[in-house]
Amino acid sequence: MANNTKDIQILDQDIDDGAGTFRVRVGKGVRYLNIEKGVFPDNIMSHPAALVSALIREPQCLPDNDWTDVDISRNGRGEISTTTSAYSYDEDDIKLELEHEHAVEVLMLSSKNKIRSGVDEVEWHGPDGNGAAVAAIAKIACFHDQLPRIETETWAYKELEDAYKQGSRPTAVFPRFLAQIVEHGRPMGVLLEKLEGDHAGIDDLAECAAVVRQLHAVGIVHGDLNRYNFVVDRRNGKKVVRVIDFEKAEPFIKEKAEAELQSLAAKLEDESGIGGTFGMPIEQEAAAGQQ
Ligand SMILES: Nc1ncnc2c1ncn2[C@@H]1O[C@H](COP(=O)(O)OP(=O)(O)O)[C@@H](O)[C@H]1O
Ligand SMILES: [Mg+2]
Repeated sequence: MANNTKDIQILDQDIDDGAGTFRVRVGKGVRYLNIEKGVFPDNIMSHPAALVSALIREPQCLPDNDWTDVDISRNGRGEISTTTSAYSYDEDDIKLELEHEHAVEVLMLSSKNKIRSGVDEVEWHGPDGNGAAVAAIAKIACFHDQLPRIETETWAYKELEDAYKQGSRPTAVFPRFLAQIVEHGRPMGVLLEKLEGDHAGIDDLAECAAVVRQLHAVGIVHGDLNRYNFVVDRRNGKKVVRVIDFEKAEPFIKEKAEAELQSLAAKLEDESGIGGTFGMPIEQEAAAGQQ
């Protein structure tokens, strides 16, 4: 086969009851594999190195085309059978438009620290790749069904950046939007300035509320406020609060804006871990820990 079947890496995985969805790098291309239960034993499915070996033995699982969806099953005779489809990247259809001035190919970014599956700390060298290294956060849709959330987040950052450029944002209440992340040209993530600090607590209520009011003033309801979606920089005896995670943001609606301000104290007091990376589903946690 033309592709380099030795250079394979499981980038993301979502395993549920013996079946799995995998985002796989083959050389410089990416495939999305849907592997039915029973195709490979559970211990191979859940072990990236073992799965890579199994895929090398079954090269039809990794067709030559980049960025292809492959459904893998076993037929009645126990042989592996595959059906491929191209993820439709219809210019008219796709709402996550490439409007932002900078786009970076996801495989060009290398992870320095995996925060969770789909959220990594990376180094960014500017749009032309030659600038000084800046710490950034790459947040991507590991699978197609996560694209709407990234689309919403991209919309929110564009709104915030527009307000910032027009000077209607007095202080920095969100990370700068550095670039859109694309995979073979298809938008699928956001690259953000990495903020320094830790999550908020009830002692930060006044500062957090001020930040939320600024979002409302530029026409955005956050939609998912919790203590982990604030980053509080407490260096130099000062307190600078910023807000992240706009996956559930919406255009301003007065009732929703008031409701999220009213529930803010309870959200900052909540110690259940909801919104934190240790609150994520077990299979995501396992995937995050394996890479
Ligand atoms: N720009 C950023 N700067 C610093 N840390 C970030 C940034 N974006 C995300 N993080 C960290 O990654 C975690 C997960 O990111 P987030 O956007 O909240 O996604 P989700 O809550 O949907 O998993 C955050 O709680 C925070 O710890
Ligand atoms: Mg969050």
